[in-house]
Amino acid sequence: MKRQNEAAEAMKRTAEAGAAEAPSIDLRDFFSASEARVDRWRSLHRIAKALADASAAQADPLRKESADLLAAMEPIEDLCGFPGPRLMEHLHDRIRTGDRTGFARLVQRISFALLSNSYRDDPEAWKSEDEGEAYAPEILPPSIGRGQSRRPYFEILMVSPGERSTWPELREVFRRLRREHDEFIYEPVVVGSLEDALLATIFNFNLQAVVISDGFGFASQYSVPVLQEILRRHVPIDDAARTGDLGTTLARLIRRVRPEMDLYLVTDRNVGKLAGSDEGDAIRRVFYGVEEPMEIHLSILEGVKERYTTPYFDNLKRYAQRPIGTFHALPIARGKSIFKSNWIRDMGEFYGVNLFLAESSATTGGLDSLLEPTGNIKVAQDKAARALGGDRSFFVTNGTSTSNKIVHQALLKPGDIVLIDRDCHKSHHYGLVLAGAQPLYIDAFPLTQYSMYGSLAIKPIKKALLQLKAEGKLDRAKLVVLTNCTFDGHVANVQRTMLECLAIKPDLIFLWDEAWFGFARFSPFLRRRTAMGAAAAIRDLMRDPEYRKRYEAFKAGAGKLDPKDPKLLDMELLPDPDQVRVRVYETDSVHKSMSALRQGSIVVVADQDFHTVEASFKEAFFTHTSTSPNLQLIASIDVARRQMELEGYELVGRATQLAIEVRREINAHPLISKYFRVATPAEMIPAEYRKSGFTDWGAPGWTMTDTIAALDGDEFYLDPTRITLLCGAAGYDGSQFKARLANEFDIQINKTSRNSVLVQININNTRSDLAHLIKTLADMARGIDKRLAEGGEEEQAAFKARVKALVEDVPELPDFQRFHDTFRDNPKSVTQEGHMREAYYMAYDAANCEHVKLNSKEIDDRLAKGPELVSAKFVIPYPPGFPIMVPGQVITKEIITFMRKLDVKEIHGYDAGKGLELLKPDALAKHKGK
Ligand SMILES: Cc1ncc(COP(=O)(O)O)c(C=O)c1O
Repeated sequence: MKRQNEAAEAMKRTAEAGAAEAPSIDLRDFFSASEARVDRWRSLHRIAKALADASAAQADPLRKESADLLAAMEPIEDLCGFPGPRLMEHLHDRIRTGDRTGFARLVQRISFALLSNSYRDDPEAWKSEDEGEAYAPEILPPSIGRGQSRRPYFEILMVSPGERSTWPELREVFRRLRREHDEFIYEPVVVGSLEDALLATIFNFNLQAVVISDGFGFASQYSVPVLQEILRRHVPIDDAARTGDLGTTLARLIRRVRPEMDLYLVTDRNVGKLAGSDEGDAIRRVFYGVEEPMEIHLSILEGVKERYTTPYFDNLKRYAQRPIGTFHALPIARGKSIFKSNWIRDMGEFYGVNLFLAESSATTGGLDSLLEPTGNIKVAQDKAARALGGDRSFFVTNGTSTSNKIVHQALLKPGDIVLIDRDCHKSHHYGLVLAGAQPLYIDAFPLTQYSMYGSLAIKPIKKALLQLKAEGKLDRAKLVVLTNCTFDGHVANVQRTMLECLAIKPDLIFLWDEAWFGFARFSPFLRRRTAMGAAAAIRDLMRDPEYRKRYEAFKAGAGKLDPKDPKLLDMELLPDPDQVRVRVYETDSVHKSMSALRQGSIVVVADQDFHTVEASFKEAFFTHTSTSPNLQLIASIDVARRQMELEGYELVGRATQLAIEVRREINAHPLISKYFRVATPAEMIPAEYRKSGFTDWGAPGWTMTDTIAALDGDEFYLDPTRITLLCGAAGYDGSQFKARLANEFDIQINKTSRNSVLVQININNTRSDLAHLIKTLADMARGIDKRLAEGGEEEQAAFKARVKALVEDVPELPDFQRFHDTFRDNPKSVTQEGHMREAYYMAYDAANCEHVKLNSKEIDDRLAKGPELVSAKFVIPYPPGFPIMVPGQVITKEIITFMRKLDVKEIHGYDAGKGLELLKPDALAKHKGK
């Protein structure tokens, strides 16, 4: 009880005091709990330094502040292996005895070790500095001394029913099991309740395994409100959890936060029964209470090894070391043609010998074949499927552009109808041409002010499905293609989207293009909004008796769904659990958000009817996959999976926190925000899709718990790591600004719009990058200030006009409208699907095409009086990067106006010198007559 009160009081005091340069952000405002912890160490370090330097008169308040902060940190530090109870005790001692310098030194050592993660490798970090070399090293966690080969470090959580006084002995038991030849080294952390175990899961990213011993209690030993709030936001604990079996309940709840962790249960119940039950599903192994700790130790190491092992990469490394003579068609394999060359040796020196030793065009020697995997590629793919939450996965070595085409071709045949976001990546449009399916384009909501599209809302998708149903064509609607998240960060409510669509057509297949979003699986917040996260949730839901009751009530209320009833658009539709087939495909550019080499991509599948398309999937894979896939790419996908399963939680949490800080820093900076601003979720997502009212992370009056509610319920959420930086108010269009950043400040960004650039934060970014960006923007803002101050009225007027043109005079974004009647089965049909492939191939015959200059009178005349202008091509301006014309599409006045206003140079499918390429009216008439 005393511990509880002290910690809660101390947390309150530190929050109130706002400590000298105290925690700039309150613990509860952190998105990433583990970053919140590190931030507290930073704060303690600052205060401790001030304390060491303070005069005797100044010291007292600082000492109190340090002691308070240290006490406030205690509940979280209890959940972490490093610095651990021993070093924490040293800190308390030093404060107690007034050793201010010693206190500051030790705080500095610990916080540096935490910031740099050196405690994972360096035994010195575990000593207080006066222990030096004399301190008995065998009780120090990392045995990986300098000079030895590195053994990865992790921590395990032991959930114990024993008194706190027994915990040190428990830790010792497991430490003593360490052996020289163990492949990894771990430090045990002990807690005594379900709540503390969950808090450890949340705060301690080093945890890789949890050993749950039956008999522990429910409530945390600290009743600290902020920790309770953090707990609630990560894992809402239902009442049933409090009364049910705590061991298996804990396992289930931990899985919700970190599904990759290995869970072990030590119990004296009927282990056989438990191990085979549904309850035991989340648990890797069940031990009987009196089992040898060594068995548990070995299981823990084996569990981590299972994730650590990268079957393809490991084999490739072995292969590279073998003295293999190659007599196949790949001269660079083994590197002899390079290292012996008079002229290209520098290539070998630049890339290093391993790249060439690890090259081969053989599929023997354990290298397996990507086209027909049966060995380590197969195992690597299975592991990736597990990591990403699917049933199976397929590695793709030519980017998600190819993954998408594979899925289209595998699932579609000519005549099928595909509901598709017109703003999606071009690989989908091309995929449809190849497959011969008819696209039914649906427009995403526009963000005209930034010259970009948002995302595809549920209502227009439902509307299209209901119209198809009303016209008797629903059976031809095979696939829905959606982008999640979009380039600019719009994250769909994946589960609701699928449920509502399945309510109209229960066997609809979904392809979620998650090219940008693979990392989201490893965020406990974003996971629910991934295709695989939602597919798993829907599978569970369809088996849930409570859902069945809800569905029955819905059915009784709604009656037979009349597709013409407009009410259906505003109702939340529920699918019939007896009819639903969960058929979900997700494509990820592993190279875009994880550590794979460029073009490393993956298709992840959760399709309960996969057996019906397995053969066509294989054909499609053969169609699009090179017979010489790059081995390093395959290996890098394998390694990226290893990384995410072992440290994805930490890395993604860090990146998210960093991104939120970049956003806040820019928008709160008095100088920078005069000219540059980050578009907030409120600006990027129209209010109708943010029913919760969420506006921004850290908006006044909003707790992080409310934010999580928005994440749960809103139709769209913004991925904070995708930062739309508005530069129009600084007088730059996106392309100019991008060029300045690259040429003058060494900052590379990718996507631009008329008045913005997209700054992406990923697992590679650090606080130094943040500093670099902020400094750059501040320098630029200062430069503009100066130019305006010194340039006189003329300069100011020109600047104002430029800003107005960029920010206010923005062109309307043109909608798709329709395919030309020639390409429609029934021109009178309400739904607008069309034979795009026919139009595409018509244009192969030059005699069918004509060119008309964009600014010509002929265009205006034909828009006014006909004949209709029909595009022969995909026309894709960069930015914004979506096709404003597709083959066979009727070109409207809005499209022409948009194109005429576009001031970008790169427009794929359009040659300004020749003009727009159109299908000739007489050719169209002739084609129709066929
Ligand atoms: C939404 C989307 N899907 C797919 C792709 C293609 O991915 P890749 O570059 O891996 O071929 C991109 C590329 O930018 C994209 O934005």
